[in-house]
Amino acid sequence: MDRLERVRALLKNHGQEHLLAFWGELDAAAREELLNEIEHIDWNMLSPGAHIQPVKGEISPIEGLLVPEIEARREEFAAAGKKAIQEGKVAALLLAGGQGTRLGYAGAKGTVDIGITRPLYIYECLIENLLKVTNECGAYVPLYIMTSDKTDAETRAFLKEHAYFGYPEGEVRFFLQDMAPATDFSGNILLEGKGRLALSPNGNGGCFSSLRRAGLWEEAKNRGVEWFNVFAVDNVLQRIADPVFVGATLLSGKNCGAKFVKKCAPHERVGVLCKRGGLPDVVEYYELPEEMANLRDERGELVYSFGVILNYLFRRETLERIEQSAIPVHHAKKKVPYLNEAGELVHPETENAVKYETLVVDVVRLMGSCLPFEAVREREFAPIKNASGADSIASARELLQKNGVKL
Ligand code: UTP
Repeated sequence: MDRLERVRALLKNHGQEHLLAFWGELDAAAREELLNEIEHIDWNMLSPGAHIQPVKGEISPIEGLLVPEIEARREEFAAAGKKAIQEGKVAALLLAGGQGTRLGYAGAKGTVDIGITRPLYIYECLIENLLKVTNECGAYVPLYIMTSDKTDAETRAFLKEHAYFGYPEGEVRFFLQDMAPATDFSGNILLEGKGRLALSPNGNGGCFSSLRRAGLWEEAKNRGVEWFNVFAVDNVLQRIADPVFVGATLLSGKNCGAKFVKKCAPHERVGVLCKRGGLPDVVEYYELPEEMANLRDERGELVYSFGVILNYLFRRETLERIEQSAIPVHHAKKKVPYLNEAGELVHPETENAVKYETLVVDVVRLMGSCLPFEAVREREFAPIKNASGADSIASARELLQKNGVKL
């Protein structure tokens, strides 16, 4: 069977034969491109069962390490973390494949200049934070950067042009996040061109499978990496490979560690660490029942107050036992331009499509055990998500200044 026949059979099997509707109009290069895209589809993600969440059981509070205990044991934790970093057991994994739609910036978010009297880029803040740790430890941490089709070329060029803000180029590896096709509400994959599927990044939960596909998982393993510190691009106060966090997680014997900040109000829009059916989990703010969101302990503190900040440590060996297909798939309704049957591009006025994503936050539960680790909000949490108001460049600037960063 030749390649085209194989692809036809595959599409027939999944009820998606319409993807070759314009085959006759494509030149050789466009045909090649289309076949590539079709062969790379992760059919598991699109399967109707994939998004049904497993029954998770009762929500209950989880114990975590709070600031007073962390301070009391700081030296012990820091020593263990430093040792692991010096032995090359910790890698940093930066998630930079998002589209940053809320910020409304057309390029890759990490390249945004947030300085006032001097240029200060988001990437620069992150790398300076990482350099503080590597200088203290006297050892570099391999830095894996996940980009997507939308951010890859720009991110690579930007970091090279800025000489990686002082981080050694040899310690930086880029890898591309896999893409997932959008479908209409009946599950038919959409085309955005006659030879192009309507693709978008498959969510930050794709980071481990994409790292594998890029051949970097084996590389990390061969280097002796035992822990991945996964973090978001947009928190400019982010502590990366924080030795105290690393040491505390290692000494806890758990399979993962999750940094959290105490919620500032019962309805703050952050996911909350808890247990569900006895396993560590993150409940999204919209899933947390009203009475639980408001529940306070005898000291008047919120019981469900551990807000996650997308900074996790994952044990590599445990990740190896998790099937990618075990990560639940989220469906998001979006407006996606598509080609109609006549081959005309339609820009829909209302939501017309489903995008499929997996999220790294869902991996916490699959790890089986987790150490929640408190970070002081004013020192470690300055995310840039929105164009104005909360979690914007303005709020991040204020926090950077409070932490002595010259802008
Ligand atoms: P967000 O959930 O804030 O998404 O990502 P986003 O795409 O950057 O922003 P909006 O929602 O469109 O405004 C949290 C982290 O996960 C990364 C982002 O780059 C950010 O570091 N991410 C998100 C990916 O790497 N890939 C994705 O597909 C989505």
